[in-house]
Amino acid sequence: ASSLQQLFEPTTSYRSDDEYANVNWDELGFGLTPTDYMYVMKCSINEKFSEGELNRYGNIELSPSSGVLNYGQGLFEGLKAYRREDGRLLLFRPEQNALRMKIGAERMCMPSPSVEQFVDAVKQTALANKRWIPPPGKGSLYMRPLLIGNGPVLGLAPAPDYTFLIYASPVGNYFKEGLAPLNLVVEDKFHRAAPGGTGGVKTITNYAPVLKAQAQAKSKGFSDVLFLDSVNKKNIEELSSCNIFIVKGNAISTPDTNGTILAGITRKSIIDIARGYGYQVEERPIPVEDLIDADEVFCTGTAVVVAPVGNITYLGKRVEYKTGAGAISRKLQSTLTGIQTGLIEDKMGWTV
Ligand code: COI
Repeated sequence: ASSLQQLFEPTTSYRSDDEYANVNWDELGFGLTPTDYMYVMKCSINEKFSEGELNRYGNIELSPSSGVLNYGQGLFEGLKAYRREDGRLLLFRPEQNALRMKIGAERMCMPSPSVEQFVDAVKQTALANKRWIPPPGKGSLYMRPLLIGNGPVLGLAPAPDYTFLIYASPVGNYFKEGLAPLNLVVEDKFHRAAPGGTGGVKTITNYAPVLKAQAQAKSKGFSDVLFLDSVNKKNIEELSSCNIFIVKGNAISTPDTNGTILAGITRKSIIDIARGYGYQVEERPIPVEDLIDADEVFCTGTAVVVAPVGNITYLGKRVEYKTGAGAISRKLQSTLTGIQTGLIEDKMGWTV
């Protein structure tokens, strides 16, 4: 009976077993592989989120006049689940994503799930899609929580109804370069964020505006762009999808979260790991001159993890940076991924 049942229900149950989905785990990039289930929770503007459920992954219905489609009232998050050698699953600091979503929701006039609701929903989504979590060392299950104003509005106002949703996809390396050093170009025309805007929170509206700069850079053979501040065009900010760090001697610096920089969870974790190793870490405005003068540069993000930068072009001049086995970024990267995948003891209490 059970094999007949399997014939008619080819996908796994919510408590999926240890079987793996049919994926070529050696060829994972950062593309969407649809998985079995997504988590959905709804509420209206005057309510609190209360109960959600797992649904089959699929298209969702949206009013043409929804707040998210018309006015961009939406936030997203990103976090990863890893499979350990002993078969247990690990999440990395999911409560940090929950807190960041709460702060972003406040900025975008949306209700948000509580930290407990968010973390519980992430756990349910990971477990329901367990067969899509890559074998140890082959990647992770990237989970994408969304919070959107799905209710109809015509005049500019917060939407009347909201949806919190989490879908998931197995992923490997973010950049097509894999783990090879990135070559970046400093963008001197387009800007990512402005003071008083939403650069510091993870609104969906922060991302489409960088596509043009990113496309132009890619067409010239660069991996990505590095944005400058929009006021003085003097300080470095971040890439299109991740934060940046520079290293000079024993000192590590990253732009301070002054409202235009996304408060990355990997950024914050790398700061703590580096301090633990005894490096002096500063969060400060970083003039482009300091970037040019740096020994080493690297990027951090949930999708990107830690990516070394091999060179950066600024006003037509290319600067090379140290990468490889002796680089500080290599040490920080292997400590972080060791903790995330369960290979290194988590003394920080970051993993769930
Ligand atoms: C992440 O690193 O999770 C992000 O949100 C960046 C995204 C553009 C892939």
